[in-house]
Amino acid sequence: MTSAAPTAPAVRTAPAPSATLAVDKVGGRIGAVISGVRLGGDLDEATVAEIRAALLEHKVVFFRDQHHLDAEGHEAFGRLLGELVAHPTVPSVDGRYALGIDNDHGGRANQWHTDVTFVPAYPAFSILRAEVVPPYGGNTLWANTAAAYAELPQPLRVLADSVRGVHTNDYDYAATRPEAPSRELEQHRKVFTAVKFQTEHPVVRVHPETGERTLVLGSFLQKLTGFTGHDSRALIGVLQSHVERPENTVRWQWRAGDVAIWDNRATQHYGVDDSDAHERTLRRITVDGDVPVGVDGRPSTLLAPRSVPEPTYGIASGASTNGVLAQS
Ligand SMILES: [Fe+2]
Repeated sequence: MTSAAPTAPAVRTAPAPSATLAVDKVGGRIGAVISGVRLGGDLDEATVAEIRAALLEHKVVFFRDQHHLDAEGHEAFGRLLGELVAHPTVPSVDGRYALGIDNDHGGRANQWHTDVTFVPAYPAFSILRAEVVPPYGGNTLWANTAAAYAELPQPLRVLADSVRGVHTNDYDYAATRPEAPSRELEQHRKVFTAVKFQTEHPVVRVHPETGERTLVLGSFLQKLTGFTGHDSRALIGVLQSHVERPENTVRWQWRAGDVAIWDNRATQHYGVDDSDAHERTLRRITVDGDVPVGVDGRPSTLLAPRSVPEPTYGIASGASTNGVLAQS
């Protein structure tokens, strides 16, 4: 009987990037499907870097069949992209970071918007995971706000570069809703506006990672600074129409287990409210962003309240205001 062979010393090598990762464009200007990746907190650095690069290039990336991902795995993966932040007013569904995007909770996202632009440092990335999807409808659309800026005629780009706008979570809700609000909608709105925020952003921000110029518009934008209400609405309408042009958008039909990640600094999105009473349950987490800076170098400014209040869990989205608070 020979003695057991000595155990080979454990060798730690740097994990190689996933050889199977593939990025396939969905649309010409926005959207790509990433396959060959099992999302989670244990992904190696090289794979995370590949995902981040694809995200910055394509603005929204989709992953199919991530059924293994639960709330914890969702968060663990999110942390690989940055610090997680809670919604400033809406309590999470799990007592941690996840925001419920459920069609039975009264919240509706059927307006073009960028997440949480009513605070200065709104999220850099949102990561949305589909748990239950309806048999039809309930698609989400994303629009590329860098492509929208790039296609503007030059005089309009010059104008947009020099304008700022005030975003608020206390916008005129009734003006955008043809139907009478249900009790659930009223309740959701009450929670959503428990603290009323007002933030002035440049209409064009310089993306901190890509250097691209992107339009900062969407349904939280109330008014352009220095314009009458009439002029403001007309100008916003012209700029926003470029964002919504079908060539600048992609539409995603959800399947359970899908995950979508978007660069919230370079996109708007729209949740189509057409799945009737069928259940639609998605979970969103957000990764902290930084304070936007305009073409002239001026940062966004929090006008109200005096500071971003702490949510019940974690730090608030927009907490990293770099001290850029309203002048009293
Ligand atoms: Fe949203």
